[in-house]
Amino acid sequence: MPATVVVGLQWGDEGKGKTTDLLAESVAMVVRYQGGDNAGHTIVLGGEVFKLHLVPSGVLYPHITPIIGNGVVVNPQTLLDELAMLRSRGVATERIRVSESAHVIMPYHVALDGAMEARLAGDEIGTTHRGIGPAYADRAWRVGLRMADLLEPDALRAKLERVLPEKNAVLVQTHGLPPFDLDEMVARATEWGHRLRPHIVDTTALVQRALAQGRHVLLEGAQGTLLDLDHGTYPYVTSSNPIAGGACTGGGVGPLQVDEVIGVMKAYATRVGSGPFPTELGDDIGRHLLEKGHEFGTTTGRRRRCGWFDAVPLRLAVAVNSVTSIMLNKLDILSGLPEIRLCVAYRIDGRVVEEFPSSGDLLARAEPVYETFAGWEEDLGGVRREADLPRAARGYVDALEHLAGVPISIVSVGADRTATILRRDRPHRPALGGVVPSIAPPAALELWPSREEPAGIAEDRGSEDDDPVDGGPAGGGDPGGAAS
Ligand code: IMP
Repeated sequence: MPATVVVGLQWGDEGKGKTTDLLAESVAMVVRYQGGDNAGHTIVLGGEVFKLHLVPSGVLYPHITPIIGNGVVVNPQTLLDELAMLRSRGVATERIRVSESAHVIMPYHVALDGAMEARLAGDEIGTTHRGIGPAYADRAWRVGLRMADLLEPDALRAKLERVLPEKNAVLVQTHGLPPFDLDEMVARATEWGHRLRPHIVDTTALVQRALAQGRHVLLEGAQGTLLDLDHGTYPYVTSSNPIAGGACTGGGVGPLQVDEVIGVMKAYATRVGSGPFPTELGDDIGRHLLEKGHEFGTTTGRRRRCGWFDAVPLRLAVAVNSVTSIMLNKLDILSGLPEIRLCVAYRIDGRVVEEFPSSGDLLARAEPVYETFAGWEEDLGGVRREADLPRAARGYVDALEHLAGVPISIVSVGADRTATILRRDRPHRPALGGVVPSIAPPAALELWPSREEPAGIAEDRGSEDDDPVDGGPAGGGDPGGAAS
């Protein structure tokens, strides 16, 4: 029953998609457990670039069942657009399953996100304007719509009749924006439900069944630890829990079912949006990282703020995620810098502090205390063995590993999956012998039960009925049943 969580140790954009991609051969199921279309995974496969926002990166492999878990907030239109994009590029989408309990990002959430940010002018969070915060707020307020609600037009209308007047009042009276029309909203949401019906199921049951069968389940976090609602740099955070614990609440696994947590980090730091960032660089080195590292947001295209690696929050991130090993990405981007700095403590109000402060105000006053390392000139793109790294690069990786206190097992030196150094074996997992696994020929398509297929949507499903798993009837799972 192995379950691996892949979690970002910084402010997101650490390259978690590549980690999933690298492990894909052994994995039967990939589960997204939080966030929404604020995230962006870029995966380079065979020279082709795929940018995904909602669908887990495992979708590119026919043997993997991609799951959007209950902890995700789903913009149904984004999901439909992403499914269409994948199909147009020859990627099968009929295996994708979406939790019936996942909350729906409605158009009023998107409008409110933008309006609330505009009102904070000068003090804004710098959100992605995707409606993430308002959707999670409605979930906590217990007035949210869940994916299962999209399948029940009458109940859907009743819920919208209750919630929409309140949303419209805020939009119109507080923000001076136009209201949403109830009938139009019900029609749009019903259409989403109609088109997504085959994908909407009880995903916790699927995850638990996979684990009971001894399949390897990978739970994929979006964003990163420092954007975590509880442990991040509040209020400059996202509205969910990217940390590994979020995989339990949002992915449907119990804490003791997770036996591996791979923390993913870059060899330097980036941040998108507002909030304190002690090691930020506004100079030529920052520009080197931005340009050479292509540090532009996958979702918004915004420039990422760039800086030196900060080991102060690293210690916190390793602890709160129970990280068992680390994947270090983008080491190649540091080539050509005369020296490399690593922040090991802060000086705050004249005191040296080694703990990451939970107060944003304190963090905003933190001055980094750096250790300086020799740089290297060599291009690392072709390096495949640790021994072939320049001495200075090895020294830097060793220092990061020492500060983290857990092994750095994998080092990435380029976007492609082969541009990878397997440095150490991962604890609790079979040794890979220092070789990046090639993806085996796809196993027979695995299909998990879906809802009954209503007429007229066969084009969304491909050959769903060809090869049911477990002897269960494909399309036989809980037809039309809505969550309570
Ligand atoms: P929200 O998640 O759109 O509400 O944005 C809250 C904060 O999280 C902002 O600073 C965003 O820039 C940041 N954020 C959200 N998603 C990502 C991501 O995938 N990568 C990096 N930053 C993100």
